[in-house]
Amino acid sequence: MPIYPKKERQIFMIQLIRGFKDILPGEVELWQAVEKVARQLLEDFGFKEIRIPIMERTELFARSIGEDTDIVEKEMYTFPDRKGDLITLRPEATASIVRAYIQHRLYAKDPVQKFYTIGPMFRRERPQKGRYRQFYQINAEIFGVQSGLVDVQLIFFLVTLFSRLQVSDVKAHINSLGCPKCRPKFKTALSEFLESVSDKLCSNCIRRKDRNPLRVLDCKVPSCREAMVKAPSILDFLCSECKEDFDEVKNMLEKLRVPFVVDKNLVRGLDYYARTTFEIQAESLGAQNAVAGGGRYDGLVSELGGPDIPATGFAIGFDRLTELTGLDAKQFYQKPDVFVAALGGQSRLAAFEWVCAFGNQGIRAELDFGGKSLKSQMKQADRLGARYALIVGDDELAKREAVLRNMQTKEQISVSIDGLVENIKGIIIAE
Ligand code: HAM
Repeated sequence: MPIYPKKERQIFMIQLIRGFKDILPGEVELWQAVEKVARQLLEDFGFKEIRIPIMERTELFARSIGEDTDIVEKEMYTFPDRKGDLITLRPEATASIVRAYIQHRLYAKDPVQKFYTIGPMFRRERPQKGRYRQFYQINAEIFGVQSGLVDVQLIFFLVTLFSRLQVSDVKAHINSLGCPKCRPKFKTALSEFLESVSDKLCSNCIRRKDRNPLRVLDCKVPSCREAMVKAPSILDFLCSECKEDFDEVKNMLEKLRVPFVVDKNLVRGLDYYARTTFEIQAESLGAQNAVAGGGRYDGLVSELGGPDIPATGFAIGFDRLTELTGLDAKQFYQKPDVFVAALGGQSRLAAFEWVCAFGNQGIRAELDFGGKSLKSQMKQADRLGARYALIVGDDELAKREAVLRNMQTKEQISVSIDGLVENIKGIIIAE
């Protein structure tokens, strides 16, 4: 049986997979501009790029993100490869970066390492505005520093980046999830509380309350929210080290004038966090209002088989960030510098050679391959927004000259065909 049955004489349009999208020219320029600003700032803050695979062994995500999380339970694209090994399209980047850090012993020379990566992630969530099944993240991780000051640095980085990208109206929400010393006491108190309100919880939370009680804290169902108003706060259970750490984080954020709110219900959807967690939220995004999220994950490196090295990081939702930025995609759209309008067989061949040479010289040049009239070629130059039109016919070619027309001022000058590409490059650069 062929895997792809041939549909005879039937032509059908194959559409995108639900929750996936194309980023088309016209929009992609904005993505490039945002990425350029983010990359520069990441490099300025000392992060080095790391590129990790799109697929990993399923076990890596199950063990790091947590078996009882929504992501691992129901959102991963997992399938056996041809040999039956279970592999998963990455739902996030942190687990892979930790794996690479351990596998290549990147801690051996110096445990302090800062990495960033940008790329697509995959989660089979219910698609809606701001929530896709393939989405993009700008991800940053810092290894080897225990101090809460680096958590502050990450939040400061995010706020700085968002302000450079003219994103307004965002606020940092922060919480501390304690450590393995103090969190179990909170979990016990929370579980007792959840038993007392179990008749008011949604079916999802009834299931979660035994397996992963913390997740009930950020359930968005109104009846659960109401039931949780009097829930115990993790902040009342922090041990002295965690409390000190969180106080330092808050004090330093204030010092740096980073606006933030403490949100005791911010537990995040991944299980590896400890101590400070944070989200940058933007009300204008609606239901999917987190544009970035992250926090400290001190136990993960050792849990995945590496040494006991602390770590912290964040991921920005690239799709949501492009929705929020005040930058205008149109301003980044690259128009041709010159449209070569040729009339006649010889001129068309010369024009073709010039266009190749222009490209090689970093000048964006276009021409018409369809043998259109001069009038329609000029219309095409206009439509493309070309800055100049270079007009040449066979007669001019014989006289070794062409006409260069400024499409805005309509001014025309005669240019020599000898050294033409260099000459025009000079005019364009000088402008
Ligand atoms: P996360 O909160 O799952 O964290 O994702 C980070 C950001 O990715 C979210 O705030 C959101 O902007 C974006 N995002 C998540 N899911 C979707 C989706 N389905 N569609 C569009 N955007 C989405 C993490 O992934 C952690 N690995 C962050 C981290 C790094 N923690 C420590 N280091």
